[in-house]
Amino acid sequence: MNFVTTADGSKTIFHEAIGEHYHSKHGAVQESKHVFLSSGLKYFLEQTENRSTDSVSILEVGFGTGLNFLLTADYCYQKSLTLSYTGIEAFPLEPDMIKQTGYEKEVETTLWQSFSDQYTKALTTPQHLANGITWSIAHKRALDFDSQQRFDIIYFDAFAAVHQPEMWGLETLAHVCSFLNRGGVFVTYAITGNLKRIMKSIGFSIEKAPGAPGKREMLRAVKV
Ligand SMILES: C[S@@+](CC[C@H](N)C(=O)[O-])C[C@H]1O[C@@H](n2cnc3c(N)ncnc32)[C@H](O)[C@@H]1O
Repeated sequence: MNFVTTADGSKTIFHEAIGEHYHSKHGAVQESKHVFLSSGLKYFLEQTENRSTDSVSILEVGFGTGLNFLLTADYCYQKSLTLSYTGIEAFPLEPDMIKQTGYEKEVETTLWQSFSDQYTKALTTPQHLANGITWSIAHKRALDFDSQQRFDIIYFDAFAAVHQPEMWGLETLAHVCSFLNRGGVFVTYAITGNLKRIMKSIGFSIEKAPGAPGKREMLRAVKV
């Protein structure tokens, strides 16, 4: 596991055994903001504007460094939105690796401090990050995840299909999407014919959205 600096100056991790980075080499923070924050969370909030919702629940597949969570928590904190966030992670990073990401530069100091203090505890017990923001990490494989909770948004951030095809197959996608509310939004950085077919077959309307730098398109899907 080595840190690599990406094109926007933010760091990511290269996973040698998998042969892939945790984020885009074209910009880790840029990718996270584009794919998950803007195309996922902000899109969902715009769709529900008329329902005057001030709370949102998010399920992330592949919690990794927690970058998507941190940026999401920071946005919700600034906007006084209530956030319930669950990340699924089969192979959690060591707390020391989390501390070396440099992501403290991207968020409010108090959020970063709570995040790094709570990281290990979040693997077993839900944590309260800040006003209205709760989070936890389900330390298990995506296929073993279970919850009574239903979520508004899924951030699907698995390693690419070429390295982990099982994550992008019908069984895993149908399983994680069963925890999404009707009208809920699924976003991921990639788009392939196979992914589109599977998402349609499990009851989603799909949309090609503009991709993050380095990718022309990404998938956004809404559960109908
Ligand atoms: C592309 S990285 C995620 C990057 C992460 N969202 C971040 O911001 O750092 C993919 C993640 O999926 C995790 N993973 C691999 N297989 C998994 C599985 N079967 N279930 C859940 N997570 C898995 C990896 O350990 C890795 O952390």
